[in-house]
Amino acid sequence: MTKRLAGKLAVITGGSEGLGLAIAKAYASEGADIILVARDQAKLGLAATQVRECGAEVQTYASDLSDGKNREELVDTLAIINRNRKIDVLVNNAGTSVFTPLGRITTREFEGQVNLNVAAPLFLTQSLLPLMRKPGASVINMSSYFADKLLWNRPSSVYSLTKGALNSLTKAMAFELAPEGIRVNAISPGTVDTALRRNTISRLPTEQQAEIAESISSLYPSGRIGRTDDFNGLAVYLASDDSAWTTGAILKVDGGLSLS
Ligand SMILES: NC(=O)c1ccc[n+]([C@@H]2O[C@H](COP(=O)([O-])OP(=O)(O)OC[C@H]3O[C@@H](n4cnc5c(N)ncnc54)[C@H](OP(=O)(O)O)[C@@H]3O)[C@@H](O)[C@H]2O)c1
Repeated sequence: MTKRLAGKLAVITGGSEGLGLAIAKAYASEGADIILVARDQAKLGLAATQVRECGAEVQTYASDLSDGKNREELVDTLAIINRNRKIDVLVNNAGTSVFTPLGRITTREFEGQVNLNVAAPLFLTQSLLPLMRKPGASVINMSSYFADKLLWNRPSSVYSLTKGALNSLTKAMAFELAPEGIRVNAISPGTVDTALRRNTISRLPTEQQAEIAESISSLYPSGRIGRTDDFNGLAVYLASDDSAWTTGAILKVDGGLSLS
């Protein structure tokens, strides 16, 4: 059977664990070659081994994408190493969340989340445009249910702001890049058991931690929170030519969370 992403080259930010790694393995299994970007080189190495086992050629780049200079250096390197190959897919997946009550939000927290969750997708997409296949490239932004939904005990002013901005950015970029044949969509996940979620919960007051972990599953009509590979089908569809007429969409994959 023909692989749906055969011959494609995909850049996946935050590809060393969690959702990004699951998507990298799904893309590799469908025939794509993969460029993984995250900060920790050791984690990237372990992830690359797993992705290669799925059949892909894999490049890894250690870069803190919240920093504009790092993003420029990354793009310069990618332009040299991949000078004979166009980028078909960019998954802007790296993200961070800090849940702090409004009265205690610091400028540092604000800038940290805005820089990684909004500035990185915007400016990485901008600087990778000359390297992307036109027509045909696909950009996928990893949003969150927190763009639209607020939960007690999860004070999400800044995180919600960043994911709401990412949804608006997705639509604006889709509109502007459509004439060039580049599609831009977002996946909006519900809760998934990853390091991001575990770290977020561990930063809450101790008495809230168990309560949050238990109560969150009960919010899901499907009876469970997400698994990292719950997004693979949609991520492959959005990267493939099957979605040639899908652009500007914010697609919820959340076990029905948003229904209540
Ligand atoms: N988990 C959830 O419940 C959930 C729900 C909705 C939306 N999301 C969104 O899904 C995306 C992935 O989340 P996840 O849960 O899979 O996270 P995760 O398991 O914590 O993985 C995050 C990935 O991003 C990388 N990363 C973090 N900061 C970075 C930086 N400054 N520069 C470059 N890479 C960085 C991490 O590697 P290094 O640490 O080595 O850099 C890692 O590869 C995020 O955008 C998140 O907002 C998650």
